[in-house]
Amino acid sequence: MVSPAKDNKKNPDASWKLDSWRAKPIRQQPEYGDAALLKRIEAELRSYPPLVAPSETMKLKADLAKASQGKAFLLQGGDCAESFMEFSEDNLRGFFRVLLQMTVALMYGAGSPVVKVGRIAGQFSKPRSENTEKKDGIELPAYRGDMVNAMEFDPNLRQADPERLLRVYSQSTATLNFLRSLAKEGYASLKQISRWNVDFVRRSPQGKRFQDMVERINECLSFIEACGLPLEDIEQLREAQFYTSHEALILGYEESLTRMDPETGKWFDCSAHMLWIGDRTRNIDEAHIEFLRGVANPIGMKVGPTTTPEGLIEVIDTLNPENEPGRLTLISRMGAAKIAQLLPPLVRKVKEEGRHVVWSCDPMHGNTIKSPSGIKTRRFTDILTEVRQFFSIHKAEGTVGAGVHFEMTGQDVTECLGGAQAISEINLNERYHTHCDPRLNASQSLELAFLISEELKKQA
Ligand code: PEP
Ligand code: CO
Repeated sequence: MVSPAKDNKKNPDASWKLDSWRAKPIRQQPEYGDAALLKRIEAELRSYPPLVAPSETMKLKADLAKASQGKAFLLQGGDCAESFMEFSEDNLRGFFRVLLQMTVALMYGAGSPVVKVGRIAGQFSKPRSENTEKKDGIELPAYRGDMVNAMEFDPNLRQADPERLLRVYSQSTATLNFLRSLAKEGYASLKQISRWNVDFVRRSPQGKRFQDMVERINECLSFIEACGLPLEDIEQLREAQFYTSHEALILGYEESLTRMDPETGKWFDCSAHMLWIGDRTRNIDEAHIEFLRGVANPIGMKVGPTTTPEGLIEVIDTLNPENEPGRLTLISRMGAAKIAQLLPPLVRKVKEEGRHVVWSCDPMHGNTIKSPSGIKTRRFTDILTEVRQFFSIHKAEGTVGAGVHFEMTGQDVTECLGGAQAISEINLNERYHTHCDPRLNASQSLELAFLISEELKKQA
C-alpha cells in the first residue's frame, strides 16, 4: 500500500489561494458582457452570510467516512437543474417527502443509516456539450442553467446575466430554510411516516408496497414505546439530518461564498455542504480541480468513461492529499452498457493504492437517450441495470458500493421511460417539465429505492 506523502495540516499547500483557479484554464463558464457588474455582484455575495456552517459540513464528512466503510449509505438526489420557475412549497415538500420515503426503503435493505444529500439549494448551473444552440437558422448561446441565463430561445434572455447569481443565493437560502424546518419540525419524524403517504398511496403503484412497510415500521415503533422509551427522546426518530450539494461549476459564485473558518483555520465553500466536480471539468491542471482542492468540504467527482486508473489516482491525490476518509466521493457514471468493462479496473486500482474514497453510482448521466420523436429521456431498466452492476462489481472486488446519485423529483412528471407506471414514448410529452435532463418521478424514485434495497439485501 502506498500512502500519499503530503503533510498539509491546514490548506493543501501554500500555492492555493482563494482565487488561484483564476490563473488556470477553465471550461464551461459563461461569457459575461458586463465584467464590472459581475465584479460588483461577486463582491456583494462576499458580504452576505454563508448558507451552511463549517461544523455541519464536517459532520457530513464524518457521515461519508462511515459510508465508505459500509456503515452508512449515501442517497444523493434532486433536480438535474433547479429553476426559478419551479420554486414552490409544493415542489420542495414533494421532493423532501420522496427523499424520506426512499430513505426508509433503503434503510430496510442496507441495514444502516442513510446519509441524505439533496441536489438542491444551489444546483442552478449546467455544463453543456455545445456552446451554442441553433434553431431555424438562428444561433444563440446555450442555456447554462438559471444561474447564468434563461431557457427561452430569445437573444436577450440567453445573454449571461450576473444579477442571476443574487437570485440563486436568495432562492437557495429560502429553499434551505424551508427544508431545514421540514427536517426539524416533526414532518421527518418516523412517527409521522403514515402522513407522507396520503395521496401517494392512491396514485402510485409503489403506494401499497410503501404502506405495508409503514405498517411494519409502526409495529416496531409501538414496541419501542411499549418498552418505555418515548420516541420523542430519540433524535434519530424525531428528526432527519439533511445536507445540500450541487455541482461547483460557476467558480465566481463558489469563490464568493467561500469563508475561512476561524475555529479550524480552513476554507469552506459555504454555498453547500458538499460540492462536486462534473465529468467535463475534472482535468487535473484546470480551474475546477484547483479551486476545490483548497476547500475543506466533502468533494464529489464524477467518474465517466474516459477516466483511466492512473489518472484517477493523480486526481485523488490532488483533491485528497491526506487520504482523509469521507473527503472524496467518486460518482461513477459509465452507462449500463459500459460499466462492467470500465469500472472494475478503477475500483481495483483505488483499492490497491489504499486510497480512501466513497464509491457512489450515478446511473442517470451515462444512460441519456433520444426518443424517436427527439425528446431527451432515460429508460428505467437502464438505470436499474447500471445500479445493479455497480453493486455486484463492488461485491466481486471486495470493496464498498457506498451510495447512489439520482436526478429525481417529487412531482408526477413523465420524463423517464418505464417503471411500474409504464411510461412510454407517447406519454413523454404529457408532463415533461425538466430544465435539463429527464428525472425520475416520485413513483419511479421510490420503486428504484425498493429495488436497490432488495439488491443490497441479496448481496449482504
Ligand atoms: C449532472 O450531474 O447534472 C451532470 C451534468 O453530470 P456529469 O458531469 O456526470 O455529466
Ligand atoms: Co443532469
